[in-house]
Amino acid sequence: MNVSYILLLLALLPSTSPFHLFPPPRPVLNLHSSQKKFDCVIVGSGLGGLTAAATLQRLYGRDCVVLEQHEDAIGGVAHSFTLKNSAGPFQFDAGPSLLTGLSRPSYNPLRQIFDLLSLPMPPMIEYDGWKVQSKGEMKDLGLEGEGEGWVEFEVKTGGGGFGEEIERVFGREAMKLFTEFTDLILEKNGLYESSCGVPPFVLRGDKYAAITLTRSLPSLLKIGPKGGKILTSSFDKFYDSFISKSDRNPLAETFLRNYFNYLSFALSGYTMERTQTAPVAYMIGDLHLPGSSVNFPEKGTALGGIIDVLVSGIKEKGGTISNSENVKSLILNSSNKCIGVRSNDKDIFARDGVVLNVGIWSLPGILRETLRIGGEFDEGFLRERIEHAEGKHVKNARKMFERAFLTICFRFNTGNE
Ligand SMILES: *[C@@H]1O[C@H](CO)[C@@H](O)[C@H](O)[C@H]1NC(C)=O
Repeated sequence: MNVSYILLLLALLPSTSPFHLFPPPRPVLNLHSSQKKFDCVIVGSGLGGLTAAATLQRLYGRDCVVLEQHEDAIGGVAHSFTLKNSAGPFQFDAGPSLLTGLSRPSYNPLRQIFDLLSLPMPPMIEYDGWKVQSKGEMKDLGLEGEGEGWVEFEVKTGGGGFGEEIERVFGREAMKLFTEFTDLILEKNGLYESSCGVPPFVLRGDKYAAITLTRSLPSLLKIGPKGGKILTSSFDKFYDSFISKSDRNPLAETFLRNYFNYLSFALSGYTMERTQTAPVAYMIGDLHLPGSSVNFPEKGTALGGIIDVLVSGIKEKGGTISNSENVKSLILNSSNKCIGVRSNDKDIFARDGVVLNVGIWSLPGILRETLRIGGEFDEGFLRERIEHAEGKHVKNARKMFERAFLTICFRFNTGNE
């Protein structure tokens, strides 16, 4: 969903890479002794890395290797862990655990990838909401009063009762502001409908957005000539233009901003300043239109089953997943193209490209190490990227992680434990 090139660096290389420009590769990887070069090297086995590998391997017939740092874990932040007490062992999910639009064909990009690659989605249960708890200064939470406090409310999906819940906890003004804003997004020919007409695959935040978006022109025209621009711009622009036209009640506005920062964070790991409008718009439909629900797998952890399916989907077509791979730096050629990576003490080359799907915290380190080792590439080029990778948005994301003190509990409406 997040098309920022910080998270996804895709360097397309032709099929014959001039390996001779580089020092001879160090001892060959202990992956499969027969395989030393790949078409694509994917660093990081998070959901992004696995979906990239599955798509390249299954749809484009590329020979892929996924390099994962952990000894035995696959899935990146989307993993689970077990804690035990006298009542028994409990399993907890880290990373994404708020799932919508997976139980049936939908606009959820993960569901679309599964359908596109003919991968079976694990059976899902549908729930009607979840509970949010957060701690902070009362006014920062959007509540009357002084000092620190807790807030707890239920996000009710499917259009029923969430307005009442907002009114109960945050007051009438907050409910009115929320209703007005979501109605605007969900209105006929509005942002939600247009975002549904645009496949997630063509959403990108770079200068080529306009080119790929033209294929979805009919649905964009519904929201006027600026439609494509609005959908691919960051959500705060749309939000701010709405807020500037409304009668402001500061506490109500704080609630609304918190809620949409929370949804943006759930989608992209960033606040709304760094989250595209289109995914937020269709998430609002996914959550708040009549009949919508949240999903959780029938068995296992939030994403465990999904990750298993992706892994076997990659391996089934000959792809490789290798654990204990500590990628410390990239290999750039004199045209500043990434043609491989250095993992542990060996070089792994990619004929077609390298997908770097590492966390924003690790990226600067990898780029700095690349600079330290040096090569024939232009150092200024790399320094610029390092500056970007250490920029303000990364610091903001870190702050958000620190503030995200959230507990999510599903309401059970199935009668099961
Ligand atoms: C660097 O790699 C790219 C992609 O493989 C290639 O197009 C380019 O010719 C290479 N540059 C040099 C100087 O070999």
